[in-house]
Amino acid sequence: MRVTIREEKKADHNRVEIMTREAFWKDDKLQKDNIGATEHYLVHLLRDGFVPDKLNLVATMDNKIVGHIMLATGSYVTDGNTQTDVLCLGPLTVDPRYQRQGIGTRLIKEGIKRAQEMNYPAIMLYGHPSYYPKFGFQNAEIYDITTKEGKNFDAFMALELYKDALSDISGKFIMHSIYEEEEWLQDAILFDKQAKFRLD
Ligand SMILES: CC(C)(COP(=O)(O)OP(=O)(O)OC[C@H]1O[C@@H](n2cnc3c(N)ncnc32)[C@H](O)[C@@H]1OP(=O)(O)O)[C@@H](O)C(=O)NCCC(=O)NCCS
Repeated sequence: MRVTIREEKKADHNRVEIMTREAFWKDDKLQKDNIGATEHYLVHLLRDGFVPDKLNLVATMDNKIVGHIMLATGSYVTDGNTQTDVLCLGPLTVDPRYQRQGIGTRLIKEGIKRAQEMNYPAIMLYGHPSYYPKFGFQNAEIYDITTKEGKNFDAFMALELYKDALSDISGKFIMHSIYEEEEWLQDAILFDKQAKFRLD
């Protein structure tokens, strides 16, 4: 299997959104919110100035898109006095037909490498606590970083991008409000009614 990682192009947008919607779809969310996934709409929103081209990547196999990752700007850690910009990982998606073949791993490793080249100190995320530690992510609590509500839990993780990058940084992680689904849930429901999704 030959997987290539490259930057996303405009021509990839539909395919990436359809794949993201399918991979994240949950019927129980559909019953609650009248939509089974919103991550495809988040991808759509994040493209609008939140993700540098270098950090918006697709995985392809035989020219077919099988995975996608975004590392977004606009979030920071603050102790009330200083503010440190950090990247936020997600959404990360692998086509359900191609999962557990190392594609997610390839995307994360390439994303980390590029983030290091761009001199960011850290990547933060909310994700599966059993998936990300193998890439070096740890519970943010060990860096004395909490959510904006002052909480810590296993799914809230941080990765230093160089040695001791977070040793002098602590406080609250202020994730950009673009990630807050309640801000745009109704727009996502409208977006999801587009023909490209109904035909899926
Ligand atoms: C999570 C995801 C990106 C992983 O991509 P992938 O290409 O399947 O992952 P890899 O092949 O690199 O790694 C596979 C390993 O990851 C772990 N893994 C995969 N999916 C997982 C999940 N949902 N929860 C926890 N661990 C998971 C397993 O340990 C697996 O190893 P195994 O096959 O030996 O059990 C993919 O399953 C996906 O798109 N899921 C739906 C969307 C999603 O949840 N995105 C991430 C949000 S945090």
